[in-house]
Amino acid sequence: MKEKIEAVLAEIESLACKSESEIEEARVRLLGKKGEITRLFDEFRTVASDQKREFGQKLNQLKNAAVAKIAQMRDSLQENNVSGTSEDLSKPGDPFRLGSRHPVSIVREEIVEIFRKFGYDVAEGPEIEDDWHVFEALNFPPEHPARDMQDTFFISSGANSILLRTHTSSVQVRAMEKLPLPIRIVCPGRVFRNEAISARAHCIFHQVEGLYIDKNVTFADLKQAILLFVREMFGADARIRLRPSYFPFTEPSAEVDVSCNICHGKGCNICKGTGWLEIMGCGMVDPNVLEASGIDSKVYSGFAFGMGIERIAMLKWQVKDLRNYFENDLRFLREFETSI
Ligand code: DAH
Repeated sequence: MKEKIEAVLAEIESLACKSESEIEEARVRLLGKKGEITRLFDEFRTVASDQKREFGQKLNQLKNAAVAKIAQMRDSLQENNVSGTSEDLSKPGDPFRLGSRHPVSIVREEIVEIFRKFGYDVAEGPEIEDDWHVFEALNFPPEHPARDMQDTFFISSGANSILLRTHTSSVQVRAMEKLPLPIRIVCPGRVFRNEAISARAHCIFHQVEGLYIDKNVTFADLKQAILLFVREMFGADARIRLRPSYFPFTEPSAEVDVSCNICHGKGCNICKGTGWLEIMGCGMVDPNVLEASGIDSKVYSGFAFGMGIERIAMLKWQVKDLRNYFENDLRFLREFETSI
């Protein structure tokens, strides 16, 4: 028995396991139910009683040596893992998440910046407006059917009712009332319409209104301004097409299409095969509108235009569902993220 104990002790001392599974294997081989040390304890029962004391001590020492060796091998394996291969301390840090601008803000700034380069100032007005600035001064008389073009949220009814503006054209009126002539402004802002929410419509959205009033402003100037804008926004080869339309505050009025930036005019599912995408309304400011704000329509003329920011953003990024812009789903917003 003595030799056997010494042989196992030598085995324990020479153990050099390199992995957790090797350590476990050694533990089972020595201390498991049928392990070498366990078997020696079984054998111990047959040892003559005058030798029991000596061998009992030796066996206990053997067992302790095995347990200690296994624990020590486990410890050093863990230490190696921390300072060794699994972490690369020279690795650069993870990039900071900077957050991102909302796509509507990105496009609004892009539109405003283009017009700023052309010499336009930025003007803003209140979202809670009165009937005069949203309708009356823009040549929508009371009971005029054109008021139905925009479903309005009213806050109070009566002579000059209070309401949520349905378009940023109201800022034109405020500008004409108070700014010195000539006026050259863009008016970005949020607008509200009583519409059922769907992929193509929302009760809150954003517009940019443009207004230029001076002596001798013509429709040709309007067309030129829009063409220059569209080329900046959609690329130098973008073309425009004006279709006659109707707005109470402009005469003549037009709707502007831009050549489809996806198929370049060949026809695709974004432009529904036409090669053109509608992007804004525009026209020459109606003399009634100039006069309502105290501008002499015999001396001054002007043009105006208005576009939806979400609409331009949808064309820019081919986002087909307007609701994405309002739900603050991080999976969508992070598409616009920048990082350092
Ligand atoms: N206010 C119009 C709308 O919300 C857009 C518009 C059309 C603005 C023609 C204009 C314009 O200034 O001339 O639908």
